[in-house]
Amino acid sequence: MDVDSLRNKLSSLGQEHLLDYWQELSEEQRQFLYDDIEGTNIPEIIEFYQNATKNVKNATRKVDEKMEPVPPELLGSVTRSGKKLKDWYNQGLKEISKGHVGVLLMAGGQGTRLGVNSPKGMYNVGLPSQKTLYQLQAEKIFRVQQLSEAYAGELGTVPWYIMTSEYTKEQTKEFFKKHDFFGLKEENIVFFEQNMIPCLTFDGKIILDQKWKISRAPDGNGGLYRALGKHGILDDMERRGVKYVHVYGVDNILVTMADPSFVGFCVSKNAECGAKVCEKSHPTEQVGVVCRVDGQFQVVEYSEITLKTAERRSEDGRLTFNAGSICNHFFSVQFLGDVVRKHEPFLGHHIAKKKIPFIDDNGTRHTPEKPNGIKMEKFVFDVFTFTKDFVVFEVLREDEFSPLKNSLKAEKDNPITSRHSVLSLHHRWVLNAGGKFVDRDGTPIPAIPSWNSPVNLSRRENDTESYPVVCEVSPLVSYAGEGLEKYCNGKTFTPPVLIDKAFVDKEEKADD
Ligand code: UD1
Repeated sequence: MDVDSLRNKLSSLGQEHLLDYWQELSEEQRQFLYDDIEGTNIPEIIEFYQNATKNVKNATRKVDEKMEPVPPELLGSVTRSGKKLKDWYNQGLKEISKGHVGVLLMAGGQGTRLGVNSPKGMYNVGLPSQKTLYQLQAEKIFRVQQLSEAYAGELGTVPWYIMTSEYTKEQTKEFFKKHDFFGLKEENIVFFEQNMIPCLTFDGKIILDQKWKISRAPDGNGGLYRALGKHGILDDMERRGVKYVHVYGVDNILVTMADPSFVGFCVSKNAECGAKVCEKSHPTEQVGVVCRVDGQFQVVEYSEITLKTAERRSEDGRLTFNAGSICNHFFSVQFLGDVVRKHEPFLGHHIAKKKIPFIDDNGTRHTPEKPNGIKMEKFVFDVFTFTKDFVVFEVLREDEFSPLKNSLKAEKDNPITSRHSVLSLHHRWVLNAGGKFVDRDGTPIPAIPSWNSPVNLSRRENDTESYPVVCEVSPLVSYAGEGLEKYCNGKTFTPPVLIDKAFVDKEEKADD
């Protein structure tokens, strides 16, 4: 270890405080810190910081004034595109059956708002099946492969790429192993890790998490692109013949994996990139909006626009900027290749002010109560600016978007609202397939049940809210409500209902 030369180097970069506790460290800790610093490209971090702070100054100079909605000709919609929807769905199934479609899960976030120590995907929101988010996603992959085989006569594999970070990697991998990859083939699940970068004080000094360790955080979900190149993931996609990738966030319990309609729509439009959106529910909803800024496609985060812009309405009374991003994106592998090989270095970092544990001047570690520093993050959708071949696909919130962001302390986007969204959707599926529901004394439950219906007796312990009707359909039985008629038509169910493989097998046996 050449500490003197390291000290000189740090001093020239304004980061000499990293060695403040050197004298107090054990040999082992010294080696750790030395390697930690030497393994960090500090000039690059400083450059990221300078650019990011410059961007913040420029951004506050009114992104609002330059925003325009996405032109209608680039928009597909599950409610407004009529018969074309079926064609897109079938086209998507064909692509899947040819093995052209992969899914990519961004699961490197720290899930601070949810407040759990394990990765969000391992969360069980308390459905009757007790399935976790990871299991629900795995089973949807399984089912969409089956559907595409049934339609196109060929079984295509949908490889599942899972980006983790130092925070989520080990637990996620162990969890998959423990659950035998949820019935999928191990070789079709590819884990890779995103980069961690140092956290800084507001004036650009690297924060020490311990006297012997730099404080680090994942480099944002846009860290995806660097990681794709670094870990050979793009090569893996090319080797498998994957042409299109559906990229999504871990927390949306209603996510439709490799959604054939979305994929088919994007492919039919020759798009390099697509964003799935839901109409924003109200001006202050905390979702980014897909729009154009200076003629380039972009997602502008809710924190980056003024209330006046968020509240703007068009002549039809709808919000002008209503294309709410639900963190579901489509990319052609060719475009990802361009991003990884050409554009990635030009993606700027966004600054998030956070409470970052630190070592004070006396050498004591603190967890602050107010933000004391910044994390620098790239955003996955910032690559939209690099393409002209971009489309937007609008879906229904009640069918496709219910994110698990918060703990039960918050009123929305919490474990109960997530569970509720699944049960409500599946209840509708069964009704649409001809099923009926009665409560325990045989009283019919109306299709739009009253909140205080007796079925709420089946609520689970510790619930702070009731469900309309407890009804869950396994993704192994139905991906999006299809194929349920034969098990539901003319049947009467008493909640709680779980339509899973065991249920289906029993029904089929009874029919024989
Ligand atoms: C995200 C979107 C926002 C959208 C909202 C909808 C981004 C930057 N913002 O906001 O436009 O309206 O979802 O739910 O995409 N992640 C990583 N690595 C990281 C950071 C995050 O993999 O370093 C993953 C998370 O695990 C999660 C996803 O990216 O799966 C979204 O991250 P999150 O922090 O939850 O973003 P939001 O602020 O909720």
